[in-house]
Amino acid sequence: MLDTKNNLSDSDFNKLAAFIYTNYGIKLPITKKIMLESRLKPRLRINNMESYRDYCQFILSGKCGEEEIVNMIDLVSTNKTDFYRESAHFDFMKDVILPEHYNHKSEKPFKVWSSASSSGEEAYTIAIVISEFLEGKRPFDFSILGTDISTRILEKAATAIYPLERVDVIPLSQKKKYLLRGKDVEKPTVRIVPELRTKARFQRLNLMDNSYDVPNDFDLIFCRNVLIYFDRETQEKVINKLCNHLKKGGYFFLGHSESISGYDVPLKQIKPTMFQKI
Ligand SMILES: C[S@@+](CC[C@H](N)C(=O)[O-])C[C@H]1O[C@@H](n2cnc3c(N)ncnc32)[C@H](O)[C@@H]1O
Repeated sequence: MLDTKNNLSDSDFNKLAAFIYTNYGIKLPITKKIMLESRLKPRLRINNMESYRDYCQFILSGKCGEEEIVNMIDLVSTNKTDFYRESAHFDFMKDVILPEHYNHKSEKPFKVWSSASSSGEEAYTIAIVISEFLEGKRPFDFSILGTDISTRILEKAATAIYPLERVDVIPLSQKKKYLLRGKDVEKPTVRIVPELRTKARFQRLNLMDNSYDVPNDFDLIFCRNVLIYFDRETQEKVINKLCNHLKKGGYFFLGHSESISGYDVPLKQIKPTMFQKI
């Protein structure tokens, strides 16, 4: 019988928190100890470990392999998101960015990167906004890349099935066009229509990596509500790395509580949390 009751000691918590912070940028203050303990408990069982100390040593020894690290990071990342979250960005897309691209008559597809995509609500909102903009117009091609550190959440994003209450915020006329109702009456769900699902692709990417294996000609990058987990130095590095993948004149969005103030980055501010590459 495994004994997972013994607690996670402060010292083991600190070691794990330092490992997670150094490699993934996610800050875990000591106030998160109980949360970490309860989330890791199933991992102890799955790995046949008798104590948090064993699990901690397993992770820090470097012998556990990438798969266990991925599972652990899945448990500690905060994935809160919504359709049309911080809607000013989608208004700006509709009113400024998309008309600009349209009037430019570019042959190239309009490319957007949702760089901390969580379960895909941000990426599919982008797809809906572009589709709405194109209604009755000469179409242009577009694609959306969603990336995140959490594989569990990326699977959800690719499946694109959401509980019915998550889509309350989507206007009825858009729901009719872009959502399909699930058959289960007990657990009502909706799924994004295939026409929009094919526009979005999801892949795992750690923003802490030295370089990113994604195209370097994005028209628009969303980097919202992820930098808050990183310290200032890491934030500046991450923004610079993201900008390497943004076209000159391309747009960059941050979350409402994030800023580039004091950073040496190739962006000029257009509106609060909205920037353009210089
Ligand atoms: C709070 S959600 C934000 C989702 C969405 N951008 C929004 O604003 O609604 C933050 C996301 O960042 C991801 N994340 C955390 N650290 C990361 C890292 N080092 N690299 C990539 N994604 C990371 C988490 O897994 C989580 O899904």
